[in-house]
Amino acid sequence: MRKLTFRNGDILPALGLGTWKSEPGEVYEAVLEAIKVGYRHIDCAYIYGNEKEIGDALQTAFQEGICSREQIFITSKLWNNAHLPEDVEPALQQTLKDLQLEYLDLYLIHWSVALKPESQFPKTGDDFLGQDNAPIQKTWMAMEKLVDKGMTKHIGVANFNINNLEKIRKNATIKPEMNQVELHPNLVQDELVKFCKKHDILVTAYSPLGSKDRASQMKKEDEPDLFELPIIKDLATKYGKTPAQILIAYGLNRGISVIPKSTNAGRIKQNLEADGIQLTQDEVQAINQEDKGYRFVDGSFWTMEGSPYSMKDLWG
Ligand code: A2P
Repeated sequence: MRKLTFRNGDILPALGLGTWKSEPGEVYEAVLEAIKVGYRHIDCAYIYGNEKEIGDALQTAFQEGICSREQIFITSKLWNNAHLPEDVEPALQQTLKDLQLEYLDLYLIHWSVALKPESQFPKTGDDFLGQDNAPIQKTWMAMEKLVDKGMTKHIGVANFNINNLEKIRKNATIKPEMNQVELHPNLVQDELVKFCKKHDILVTAYSPLGSKDRASQMKKEDEPDLFELPIIKDLATKYGKTPAQILIAYGLNRGISVIPKSTNAGRIKQNLEADGIQLTQDEVQAINQEDKGYRFVDGSFWTMEGSPYSMKDLWG
């Protein structure tokens, strides 16, 4: 299994199971099946609304001796309405309770956007907290304390651009160790990945398959279909693999962690088998040519009228 290494030598299995959009009724089976076939990295978040069921699956896996706590890497994420420093530890406590764990391997700030504590999703511009009221540097300092307390081994961010990374990197005691971002052939993220590599920040690719199961209000009419890209189809034929497997292998071959979501046993196994695909540098380069800067998750829900956040704040 491909691995990435944190600054202190800790290991991240590069291929993980995504759980965004995995419904509570099906995620238990999906996580348990994934662990059975060999996944050792599960990506979670409070806001996915399914951490209790994932916790049950982890407990079953531990009790049945399929793997031990130390053998599996668990990530979760701090939601936007818990950015105030006093809300950070209680948020992780809730996630640990739901996941039935003593500690996380990695805890991420989910977005660089802050909401008022009482607002899980914004209905109006009034539901936001601006950076003057909830500076991201203060949220980061509260994240650092979680490491000191042993509640998480590593901390990082998600959906951060270079500018936002720099805001916390400069004064951090613990520099961010991960940036989880959308990444696939239509969103190659070359500059951001180079910046992260230079500063020893690991990168995780979400929506590597294009997240076709997103809610319809998050979708545009003429979205690209990554499975239909000719280069992806050609490489699938060349290697005798599926387009999904080539899309997963693309990130892995760039030294990036990839977290495809599936709740289907056959596809969970199929996706794990992408780990063994070795693409040539020329093939990775050819896939890079498909870059369009296209975001399936464009963050427009954070930039509604009256919001203190703009697309430029989000993506630079
Ligand atoms: P399912 O859960 O039924 O397998 P992303 O990881 O980019 O968010 O994409 C998730 C979407 O891709 C889900 O709709 C998921 O459906 C589907 N999917 C996951 N693995 C595969 C695969 N190997 N082939 C085709 N579709 C897949």
